[in-house]
Amino acid sequence: MDQNWIFRTTPRIVFGCGSVGQAGIEAKAAGISRALLVTDPGVKAAGISGTVEKALRSAGIEVVVYDAVESDPRIEVVEMCASAARDGKCDGVVAVGGGSALDIGKLAAVMRTNEGPIGKFFGIDLIPSPGLPTVLLPTTSGTGSEVTPIAVLSDEGEHLKKGVVSPYLFPKAAILDPALTLGCPPGVTAASGMDALIHGIESYTSIHASRFTEFLAYKAVETIAGSLRTAYANGADLEARTRMMEGSLWAGMAFANSGVAAVHAFAYPLGAEFHVPHGVSNTVMLPYVMRYNMVGALRRYADLAGAFGAARDGDSDVLRAEALIAAVERLADDIRVPRRLRDLKVPETAIPMMAEGVMKVTRLLANNPRTMTVQDAEAIYRSAY
Ligand SMILES: [Fe+2]
Repeated sequence: MDQNWIFRTTPRIVFGCGSVGQAGIEAKAAGISRALLVTDPGVKAAGISGTVEKALRSAGIEVVVYDAVESDPRIEVVEMCASAARDGKCDGVVAVGGGSALDIGKLAAVMRTNEGPIGKFFGIDLIPSPGLPTVLLPTTSGTGSEVTPIAVLSDEGEHLKKGVVSPYLFPKAAILDPALTLGCPPGVTAASGMDALIHGIESYTSIHASRFTEFLAYKAVETIAGSLRTAYANGADLEARTRMMEGSLWAGMAFANSGVAAVHAFAYPLGAEFHVPHGVSNTVMLPYVMRYNMVGALRRYADLAGAFGAARDGDSDVLRAEALIAAVERLADDIRVPRRLRDLKVPETAIPMMAEGVMKVTRLLANNPRTMTVQDAEAIYRSAY
């Protein structure tokens, strides 16, 4: 736990039902007069990017649309999106969608003002100059991308997920409208909700947590644990959708400052090599990494068992930590997120290669409450098989 800390987040956060209508005002305040509207085909088909476009145009902002964002986007997608911004003479980016669309929008904005290729910027603080201004609207709860200085891409050549971390990736404003998540299908609600939960758990147990991030992360875990089942079971429940968006936001604000850790490191090779969705790969690895980490995070898990409603008065920390792991497994089962590697059609023979891949994610392993070797990583994958 860091006793001295700095906290950074998105400077303007607009939250609430109907806040999508303020997209134009926020974009204008950010200095945007001609926006590249970045989205993906699903969000476009649902009519959500159209709503954002209308809000932008009604504020007098011209709009050029880039709607070809894919999930687990490749490096090439950033290049195409940045070209669209250049060709369209856009002076800002508005991105609406899940984490992939937001990450692509963030990266395209900095690639307009910095000399590429993007490979130069994988790592921490390697982007020299601020990008075009950005406004981000998430449609899932979620990755927290709207409040993080991070964007993740798939490097197909190296079979790795790679992160860019820079303060220039923070948007000028984030607009979180829970109504935009009402149409999110149950499977995506479940997987992205588990991702947000894991941001809270990994932030709370990060060795770089602060008194401020732990406060946000604890509240995020409590809120998500109390609303994810309802949001999954009844997607039209606006109350549950609102709580989920709050939880996802708080978890994002927390981990943007404390970092996430080994669960995410183990998920990376599954996403890069086998295209397992981010929330699913994280969920599969969660209990096994938690069991490994338990000796290094006993008190922290015992605390979170309280947030989860899984603790009983008088229980020891060990019992409380075990109750927390059982509770996250039960939640994943209830909302039908797979929990074994074999269910993802990942061949067992891939485990040694994936374990090597985990060890390369030093950016995240550096936050983990227990150090690990490649042998440990392999054993954890085997336990999850
Ligand atoms: Fe995540």
